[in-house]
Amino acid sequence: MPREADALVAKSPRMTRMLELAERAAVADTTVLITGESGTGKERVARFIHQRSRRSKQPFVAVNCGALPESLLESELFGHQRGAFTGAVANREGLFEAASGGTLFLDEIGEAPPSVQVKLLRALQEHSVRRVGATKDVAVDVRLLTATNRDLEQLVASGSFRKDLFYRLRVIPLELPPLRERRDDILPLARLFIARTCRENSCGPCALSSEVLDALCAYPWPGNVRELENAIERAVVLAEGQPKIELTDLPVELRERAAVAAQADEPLTLAEAERRHVLDVLSRCEGNRAATARALGIGENTLWRKLKAYGVPAAR
Ligand SMILES: Nc1ncnc2c1ncn2[C@@H]1O[C@H](COP(=O)(O)OP(=O)(O)OP(=O)(O)O)[C@@H](O)[C@H]1O
Ligand SMILES: [Mg+2]
Repeated sequence: MPREADALVAKSPRMTRMLELAERAAVADTTVLITGESGTGKERVARFIHQRSRRSKQPFVAVNCGALPESLLESELFGHQRGAFTGAVANREGLFEAASGGTLFLDEIGEAPPSVQVKLLRALQEHSVRRVGATKDVAVDVRLLTATNRDLEQLVASGSFRKDLFYRLRVIPLELPPLRERRDDILPLARLFIARTCRENSCGPCALSSEVLDALCAYPWPGNVRELENAIERAVVLAEGQPKIELTDLPVELRERAAVAAQADEPLTLAEAERRHVLDVLSRCEGNRAATARALGIGENTLWRKLKAYGVPAAR
């Protein structure tokens, strides 16, 4: 039974195919290049590959190549010798050595500068690395997984990414489709995130209203799985004490979509428009009633009466 934090949802045909390929890649011990838009689950899949590989008991080390300046990235990955540069006061092993026996996951590989690209190629060819400022190589046994949300082939064509390294990294290419192209995954993912959030906040299981189900399925999810995860966490917290998660618990982008879809059917009554607006402002004010009343230009008592009529519990 996999740990819940490691759960990987793949219900849609495209994701099941991707997962089958990932499982085969896991045992093959080759490099894998994972591509996909931001938030599609590239790191999640990299961890999955590591867990299914013979290296699973050894470290999984993740580095974001876009988050560090060139000189720092180089010494972070390959380590340095004392005195190699100002501030290098001691010998230090790099992440290649730290990941020895295990898996090194390089995220945003397209951001790796040329100096790092050369050293990566060497590490792959020679199975050894040289610390910055050192004269000898150190043998390393590391499996390299990489990911990018950029078009690496285009970076190769424009000369900013080495072609030889590209082919070395992409022995098995895995493409993660955006969430809008695999809508069958939306609700299973939502259920996973609800169960997790409810457990973390020790609240009872939260159900979804049918309007919420429709809204989740219709929304285009530009931020992919990460956006869905954040929306659900927020909704579970806002819905605390209610039996169901309602539309008003969803972020405004989702509610606007749902409202547009609903308006297309029939016009809203004035009372319903007011109810939606009041709840929207309440949610924007993060449940703060004094702020909500001020924003609406009404007294707190009036707001209290309205919320009571809408069935909103007193303490959120
Ligand atoms: N198929 C999935 N099943 C369960 N959880 C998932 C799945 N895909 C993504 N997640 C979760 O969604 C969040 C975003 O995933 P992840 O960090 O792997 O995306 P990413 O593609 O690496 O994003 P970025 O491009 O921003 O680095 C994580 O919390 C991850 O656990
Ligand atoms: Mg990532």
